[in-house]
Amino acid sequence: MTRKPLMVANWKMNNTLGQSVVLAQEISNRFNSGYEDKVDVVICPPYIGIKPVKTVFDFDKCKISLGAQNVFYEKSGAYTGEISVEMLSELGCMYCIVGHSERREYFGETNNDVNRKAKALISGKIKPIICVGESLYVRENADPQAFVLAQIDAAFAGMDAFEAKECCIAYEPVWAIGTGRTATPEVAGEMCRSIRVKIAELFGDDIASNMRILYGGSVNVGNIDALIAQEDIDGALIGNASLQADSFASLFKACL
Ligand code: PGA
Repeated sequence: MTRKPLMVANWKMNNTLGQSVVLAQEISNRFNSGYEDKVDVVICPPYIGIKPVKTVFDFDKCKISLGAQNVFYEKSGAYTGEISVEMLSELGCMYCIVGHSERREYFGETNNDVNRKAKALISGKIKPIICVGESLYVRENADPQAFVLAQIDAAFAGMDAFEAKECCIAYEPVWAIGTGRTATPEVAGEMCRSIRVKIAELFGDDIASNMRILYGGSVNVGNIDALIAQEDIDGALIGNASLQADSFASLFKACL
C-alpha cells in the first residue's frame, strides 16, 4: 500500500464524557510514539467528548487526531441543535464523517446534504470522510456498484480537484454495519477499486491514486488483515470494535 493507512474510530452515540476520557487514556497508552509515521489514527467521539478527548491526547503528546461524526453546512444562525464547521475547527477537529448510513437512514440526510457538508468542511480546512454504501436490498436486487458510484457523483458534485484531494471515502455496505456480517475482502476491495476508478474519471489519476478509501462494516481483529491487504483499501472506519481500547489498538497495530 503506497497510501498511508487511516484508521477511524466512530464511537457513535456511545460513551459519556467520563467514559470518553477513560477510553481515550487507554487508547493513548497503547499508541506508542513513532506509530504516527505509519498510520493515521482518528477518534470521532460524540460532540461533547471531542474537547476532553483531545485534552487527554495533547497532555500525552499522543499523535491521534480528532474527528466529528456530523456537522451542519451553514456558517451560523437559527439552526437549533446544529454544530458548524467553525465550531469543530475551534475544538481541534481535523476530520469529520459525513453521510454515514445511520444519518441517511434515521435523520434523512440526502446526497445533496452530504455534498454541501463536504464542501463546507473543506472550506474550513477539515477533511470530510464521505460515507457511501448500498443496502441489502440494493445488493440483492439491483446494481450495487451503480448505486455507490451515483452516491460518489453526488457527494463530489461541483468540487474541483483541489477540494476533492482533501476528502477520504469510506465504503460501508449498510448490511455489514453493526451486523457482524462483513463484506468479503474481495467484494470490499472490488468496490473500493471501482470508487477509485470513478475518482480518476472525475478528478484525474493523481487525485485518485492519493485518495484514501476505507472500508467499514463489522471490521474486527479477525478480518482486518485480509481487508487492508486489498490494494484499494487504505484503512477502516470502525464502530463496535473501536469502543474497547484493546480491540481498537489491535486494529491500528495491524497497519504498522
Ligand atoms: P461497525 O460500524 O464497525 O460497528 O459495523 C461501522 C460504522 O458504522 O462506521
